[in-house]
Amino acid sequence: MTPLSNPGKLWLGIETSCDETACAVVRGDMTVLSNPLYSQFQEHRSFGGVVPEIAARAHLEKIHPIFASAIKQAGVGLDQIGAIAFTRGPGLMGPLLVGASFARGLARDLGIPTFGVNHLEGHIAAAHLSTPGLHPPFLALTVSGGHTELMLVKPGFQYQLIGRTRDDAAGEAFDKCGKVLGLGYPAGPIVSQRASEGNRKFFKFPEGLRNDASCEFSFSGLKTAVLRYSEEHDPEFLKDNMAHICASLEEAIVSILVRKAIQALKQTEAPTLVLCGGVSANRHLRAKLGEACAKLGVAFAVPSHEFCTDNGAMIAAAAILRERAGLLEPVTEVKPWLPLA
Ligand code: KG4
Ligand code: ZN
Repeated sequence: MTPLSNPGKLWLGIETSCDETACAVVRGDMTVLSNPLYSQFQEHRSFGGVVPEIAARAHLEKIHPIFASAIKQAGVGLDQIGAIAFTRGPGLMGPLLVGASFARGLARDLGIPTFGVNHLEGHIAAAHLSTPGLHPPFLALTVSGGHTELMLVKPGFQYQLIGRTRDDAAGEAFDKCGKVLGLGYPAGPIVSQRASEGNRKFFKFPEGLRNDASCEFSFSGLKTAVLRYSEEHDPEFLKDNMAHICASLEEAIVSILVRKAIQALKQTEAPTLVLCGGVSANRHLRAKLGEACAKLGVAFAVPSHEFCTDNGAMIAAAAILRERAGLLEPVTEVKPWLPLA
């Protein structure tokens, strides 16, 4: 039996599925009291991607200090925390186990319950933090480093997959293409920042499955095209035109995401589009999807910037939404593979 929803109850949210160690204190009415995190990009930079063992070790080192900051910044006592939510999957096994063990140990010490949450449900819940009146049914476009999917979210946490990527995720495409262009790690925010000064029509990069009737995505061809482009042009040219190349790359990724989202909105007749996941921080994507929704007469919800990339508040928010609906299960088992549908 799930406990009754309590707007004053304090939740600790813990996120450790990949390379962010994050904790947050969130009240049952969805007020975020604190949301600190540690981003491990320094640890993984020289490898150009997340190394699971290094990530797990960094989570072990950082989880206690980040937890302590979350409590301190929230200005609450440990005895005021009523429940703990942590990410149980999908994600990397070692990092997930660090968060789960910490949550379980703390919950035992404090004599409070702990609940495992789906990371993807957390990303969607982040939109509820910024748009309190949001209610299913809606279409969710989740775009992150590991996922790109269009999901119809129905009342009662029922999920219907409308389409997902056949290969790379949108964030992965940003990161891998940016890496090829020598832009560092993670390249998504850097590409986006450079793109803001460039000409989006400078070069036409391919948009995977553009003329396909499905709502599926493919970004592997784009990666190959960027690699070929960088091999065919000398370093001086690439350097001089980097802003234009980034703008063209961003245009290709954003255009296909918007096109498929429109296709899915028409197919499902969903009244609202929710954009979420780390790539939802991308300003061009937010603007273009906002415009497309306005044209279609569809409501548009997106988390505020602090809740787009992985964070603890979104994990607490997901548990709070489930508790409100009486659908919070006391599962604590970690699952690296945990699709929503
Ligand atoms: O959701 P998230 O924090 O972690 C995963 O669950 O994967 O997403 C991280 C991804 C990375 O690929 C990162 O490059 C991308 O989100 N990202 C962006 C931007 N900010 C983060 N991509 C494009 N533009 C941005 N502004
Ligand atoms: Zn994520």
